[in-house]
Amino acid sequence: MGKKVTVVGAGFYGSTTAQRLAEYDVFDTVVITDIVEGKPAGLALDLNQSRAIEGFETKVVGVTTGPNGEGYENIEGSDVVVITAGLPRKPGMSRMDLLETNAKIVRQVAENVAKYAPNAVVIVVSNPLDEMTALAQLATQFPKNRVLGQAGMLDTARFSNFVAEALNVPVASVRTLTLGSHGDTMVPVPSKSTVNGKPLRDAMPAEQIEELVVKTRNGGAEVVALLKTGSAYYAPSAAAARMAKAVAEDSGEVMPVCAWVDGEYGISGVYLGVEAEIGAEGVKRVVETDLDADERASLLEAAEAVRAKQGDISSM
Ligand code: LAC
Repeated sequence: MGKKVTVVGAGFYGSTTAQRLAEYDVFDTVVITDIVEGKPAGLALDLNQSRAIEGFETKVVGVTTGPNGEGYENIEGSDVVVITAGLPRKPGMSRMDLLETNAKIVRQVAENVAKYAPNAVVIVVSNPLDEMTALAQLATQFPKNRVLGQAGMLDTARFSNFVAEALNVPVASVRTLTLGSHGDTMVPVPSKSTVNGKPLRDAMPAEQIEELVVKTRNGGAEVVALLKTGSAYYAPSAAAARMAKAVAEDSGEVMPVCAWVDGEYGISGVYLGVEAEIGAEGVKRVVETDLDADERASLLEAAEAVRAKQGDISSM
């Protein structure tokens, strides 16, 4: 049977994700939903009108959903649901400032997803990311491997971009990695980062790596400050769409994602940014990589910071 993916939320993040998913041309149907009357239908119509030019057969369906779950019957049979619903940051805000507002939105969406697409893999992108991923799992009661969050791919892509720009080399020659939280306790991993296969640490001095690490950690906030309304969406949607594609194709690709960690790195019982193999059942396996002592310590610190916040969300 043909594959179906739903994107909840038709803001810039949701609409660019839907566009990328449609243009991959691997799904039968891309559903995009929003609470705004007409907007998802308008975007769907526009995207469908681009099919003849871009050359894809995927059909895009736009659905306005109501306060009591009206419209959610259209997501039935989705293999993947990407939740982008919630507010973005305003300049000067941290992702954590969105916690209470977005918790209400994400909980309601997740309950409807559980009801109408009980077999879907759920990819959460709403902020604060690690907490909203944990909340979506609680609200859906899906197995933990079937609920994951997008952030590591984005943070890694930002790190790679900054390294490529600093060294004036093709971005394709750069490999980086970030783990931990999508926030203050993000853990860039220089020991696993390479340029043309050689250690990043041989390509630039430690102080410059640290500068780029800080730039990566602030990569989202810098975009927010420049845009003045809304937050980043081109790089975030690229990451979310690749994850959804990996699920649909059961590719087994290893990606940095927010996943349930249960024993890896000596960390248990928390949603955290780690590398994982992605396939039809969501997270097939968390992949543990060798870390330096200081990187490992930072990851443990990130786990405890996220754990403390995740404790709060069960009551939200
Ligand atoms: C960012 C938001 C989407 O990092 O979390 O840009």
